[in-house]
Amino acid sequence: MTDSPTAHFDKEAVFYDKRFTYSLIGNLQREKVWNYLNDFLSRREKLDILELNCGTGEDANKFAELGHRVVASDVSEQMVSESRAKTKRNTFDGALDFEVIDINQLDEVVFDRSFDLVFSNFGGLNCLTEDGLKKLSLDLKKILKPDGHFISVIMPNFCLMEHLTFFLKLKWNEMFRRNNSAGLSVPIEDGDVWTYYYSPKQFCSFFENNFKIKNKKPIGLFIPPSYMEGYFKKHEMQLDFLNILDNGLNSISSLAGIADHCLIDMSIKD
Ligand SMILES: C[S@@+](CC[C@H](N)C(=O)[O-])C[C@H]1O[C@@H](n2cnc3c(N)ncnc32)[C@H](O)[C@@H]1O
Repeated sequence: MTDSPTAHFDKEAVFYDKRFTYSLIGNLQREKVWNYLNDFLSRREKLDILELNCGTGEDANKFAELGHRVVASDVSEQMVSESRAKTKRNTFDGALDFEVIDINQLDEVVFDRSFDLVFSNFGGLNCLTEDGLKKLSLDLKKILKPDGHFISVIMPNFCLMEHLTFFLKLKWNEMFRRNNSAGLSVPIEDGDVWTYYYSPKQFCSFFENNFKIKNKKPIGLFIPPSYMEGYFKKHEMQLDFLNILDNGLNSISSLAGIADHCLIDMSIKD
């Protein structure tokens, strides 16, 4: 078992944008998330948004540029410090504050407002155990407004592109690596992070007492996991082709459980 993720994510923080945010694959996957968010936000006025595991603040800045009032948080002080450093406040109308918050201790944080949207992108919630996610469900109910939404992007326990790649590389013992309820040690900068992969159905079941499911969407159905960046940097036309396939099929919600990431939109139950 690995120790707390904080230290490793602190070390990852300075490399994170180069390795993921500004990578070809990271950029395409985030674009898919924002296709959904833009549609969601276009049907609403300016919102109070809490972002969990904000990393280097890429999404928080976009929300604020669109005029929303944002509290963006992460357990890693270094991630939060990277976010603050890259925030150009003159580019947005909204408000943006960063705070160091461990999702597991959300119940100890006192907010001076409630939120229309709680958002978590790209697998921060895969660092939480089943009990941690059940507790999060209760905590979110307390801080969301009655018509509030919780939109999260998690890593499912099966990824078609990863599965095919391991098959073709004859690494058959790796093909089902995500499907391990005890979790998995995943290497990041200078250490490993214990990661739990959940099917969308399992994940939703942790929230079902307090939330109803509004939508699911595959993110990275054919756009592969970001650790394949090296290959696709040399074969950009192949990535373009996969992106076209992805755009053709990513509105099919039943495919959410076989993509690299899966977006789940839930709203508070009456
Ligand atoms: C893969 S990064 C995603 C960052 C960002 N959301 C993005 O879209 O690029 C995962 C993030 O989750 C954060 N994280 C992991 N465990 C956490 C916890 N218990 N509470 C808050 N943040 C956590 C890490 O520090 C890291 O910044």
